[in-house]
Amino acid sequence: MKDKLLRLLDEVEAFNGNTLEEVEAYRIKLLGSKGILKDLFAEFKMVDGQEKKEIGQMLNDLRQAATEKINNLKQNLGKQSIGHQSKEDLTRPSEPLQLGARHPISIVKNQILEVFSRIGFTVSEGPEIEDDWHNFTALNLSEHHPARDMQDTFFIQRNPDMLLRTHTSSVQVRYMESHQPPIRTVSPGRVFRNEDISARAHCIFHQVEGLYIDTDVSFADLKQTLLYFTKEMFGKSKIRLRPSYFPFTEPSAEVDIYWGLQTETDYRITKGTGWLEIMGCGMVDPNVLKNVGIDTDKYSGFAFGMGIERIAMLLYQIPDIRMFYENDLRFIDQFKSVI
Ligand code: DAH
Repeated sequence: MKDKLLRLLDEVEAFNGNTLEEVEAYRIKLLGSKGILKDLFAEFKMVDGQEKKEIGQMLNDLRQAATEKINNLKQNLGKQSIGHQSKEDLTRPSEPLQLGARHPISIVKNQILEVFSRIGFTVSEGPEIEDDWHNFTALNLSEHHPARDMQDTFFIQRNPDMLLRTHTSSVQVRYMESHQPPIRTVSPGRVFRNEDISARAHCIFHQVEGLYIDTDVSFADLKQTLLYFTKEMFGKSKIRLRPSYFPFTEPSAEVDIYWGLQTETDYRITKGTGWLEIMGCGMVDPNVLKNVGIDTDKYSGFAFGMGIERIAMLLYQIPDIRMFYENDLRFIDQFKSVI
């Protein structure tokens, strides 16, 4: 029996389980309720009196050595497996990070504002729910002025004096009421018109208004400012001003840029002329200046207004204005690379 115990002690010392399962199986084999040690203790009962003390000691030593060994192995293997789980694998490909894209309306609006800010224009804003005075009357559209019909207005039912602004020209009025010339400001914003929705028109869209008031402002200043803008914005250096009519400017003009006729699309969007209308403009009507208390003997100025969607559609060849409002990620994601 002594030999058997010595052999087992050697075996225990040499044992080296590679997995927790292996160590547990060894524990059951050795220390389990039907294990080797159980049998040895049974055998030990039959041992002679002389040897009893020595073999008893050996048995206890064996049990202790086996328990310690198994506990140590289990502890080490447990640590290793936890350590393994928490270790980062730096070579793994990363999860793709979902970045948002700026909306094309914001991109183009920011571009327009940036171009004008370079020549000293500040940015101003006004309310979307406007009163009749700022949207119409102060802009030289009196109560029964026929030009009010040019813009189909959403009125606020409970208060006929209130409406959703039909253009950002209302911000001109607010700005002149609260600032003295010299004035140089651009006013971006959302506007509303009761129009049928189609590929070219929407009942909600965006405009940028421009206003320049100072002493000795001429039509040449207006033309030069707009030429600078079209060069910076579109890289096109030919514009023409066509006589037009707006109640708040006199004289008034429609601004066309020469787009060219290189591609089939150019032919389509310019209707074969090469020219594209991009905004309205004019010298601020003295009546408007009087309405806001600016001295017309001393000051004059120009104003212009453009639709942001229209500019964005031209720049990015977007065929349908409704695409701006559908929030289709296949459309919006295409602007990720643009800041
Ligand atoms: N408010 C005009 C519109 O909505 C655009 C416009 C034309 C603004 C001429 C101006 C201007 O300031 O001078 O159609």
